[in-house]
Amino acid sequence: MSESISITDNRTGKTFEVPIKDGGISSEQWQKYLPGIWFYDPGLTTTAMTESAITYLDGDAGVLRYRGYPIEQLAESSTYLEVAYLLIKGELPNKDQYSAWVDDITHHTFIHENVRKRFIEGFHYDAHPMGMLVSAVAALSTFYSDAKDIFDPASREKQIVRLIAKMPTLAAAAHRFSMGMPFVYPDNELTFPANFLSMMWKVAEPHYKANPALVRAVDVLFILHADHEQNCSTTAMRTVGSALADPYSSAAAACAALYGPRHGGANEAVVRMLTDIGSIDNVQGFITSVKEGKTRLQGFGHRVYKNYDPRAKIIKAAADDVFAVTGRNPLLDIALKLEEVALNDEYFVSRRLYPNVDFYSGLIYQAMGFPVDMFPVLFAIPRISGWLAHWLELLNHEGKIVRPRQLYVGPEERKYLSMDQR
Ligand code: CMC
Repeated sequence: MSESISITDNRTGKTFEVPIKDGGISSEQWQKYLPGIWFYDPGLTTTAMTESAITYLDGDAGVLRYRGYPIEQLAESSTYLEVAYLLIKGELPNKDQYSAWVDDITHHTFIHENVRKRFIEGFHYDAHPMGMLVSAVAALSTFYSDAKDIFDPASREKQIVRLIAKMPTLAAAAHRFSMGMPFVYPDNELTFPANFLSMMWKVAEPHYKANPALVRAVDVLFILHADHEQNCSTTAMRTVGSALADPYSSAAAACAALYGPRHGGANEAVVRMLTDIGSIDNVQGFITSVKEGKTRLQGFGHRVYKNYDPRAKIIKAAADDVFAVTGRNPLLDIALKLEEVALNDEYFVSRRLYPNVDFYSGLIYQAMGFPVDMFPVLFAIPRISGWLAHWLELLNHEGKIVRPRQLYVGPEERKYLSMDQR
């Protein structure tokens, strides 16, 4: 069987053959035979914008792998910083590489005093923490002028370490400011997730010690959110990066994409939905209103997964460990009932709608004390490693600026009329 497709141009009667490579056909080949005929593909639902060796996703089978490693194994045995190394460098680190990497990240967690004092503290008191994060990440580019040297491997590495290390510090600073709480400096004695929890929750104790079960849960959530191939924010990172912008500016664009409720905000919508449902007794009625098209079951369905999102399975299991410490989130019973009813209902079964990553993550975050405004920020902290892995891949392998075509449907040429003639 030939790995190609034949296309006949009915305007000319000419037939040509386009080879299929890695499951795709190259636009260069297409353009050779059909110049000026563009794919109309809103949302890029059938366009592969790049080749990538980072994350493999099979939505029908519910499979997710980073650099070939199944997400289940990474969530079970790895740490977020090890996963970040894997995503960025392509291989798991050996012992020496890992300790050097952790040391490097740990020693870059501080932010310049002006970022906090003049920048973050310059926001209005009720600014959204994600808005603060988007702006603070962009502002970092002005603090590190060497970030522009994007073709210098040493400079790239430095910015990557800085960004991964400073995201939790910026996130916690934004939260503390919005609460009117004093800023907490990073504690180099702590692991990456434990340090984040310390910067979030420390009050007057000399050393904040988070519960180990909660530290592990945060680490697992960070692993699960570290990358998800060509999603909206990663595409933003690649698009801005393709113009050769510095990594802070590109990452700020990615953060901005994640700020959108369709992308980073669905777990917040789940918590609000469960709160509105209010009781298990109202679940059946809610499902009926979903089926009537009056509302959506938040945290269900996915553009790519047509099976149980493997991340949702892991989060559901991790929830028990968290609730053992924090006490059970009362919304959990409603969520479990919703899942049970939906998975046995023809409407959801026939459309292959399953719980996605956001169905249970919000419940864990809420039980741990994070306000809903912080949910997208919690997503952005680990996703920076995925964005940066894609940014590096882009710079190393391609080089074309992203510049799509359009199908123009506006007016034909017309003559400008002065205002008194209109
Ligand atoms: N509740 C009820 N019906 C749904 C839902 C839902 N959550 N999701 C899809 N459907 C129905 C939809 O009405 C349509 O039915 P019909 O064929 O009768 O018109 C069918 O299923 C296909 O839906 P679609 O909107 O064409 O699917 P999509 O691939 O464009 O949308 C989605 C994917 C995630 C936007 C959508 O499933 C949704 O809105 N889910 C709720 C929001 C949510 O949980 N988002 C988080 C996504 S995971 C985060 C991440 O990975 O970044």
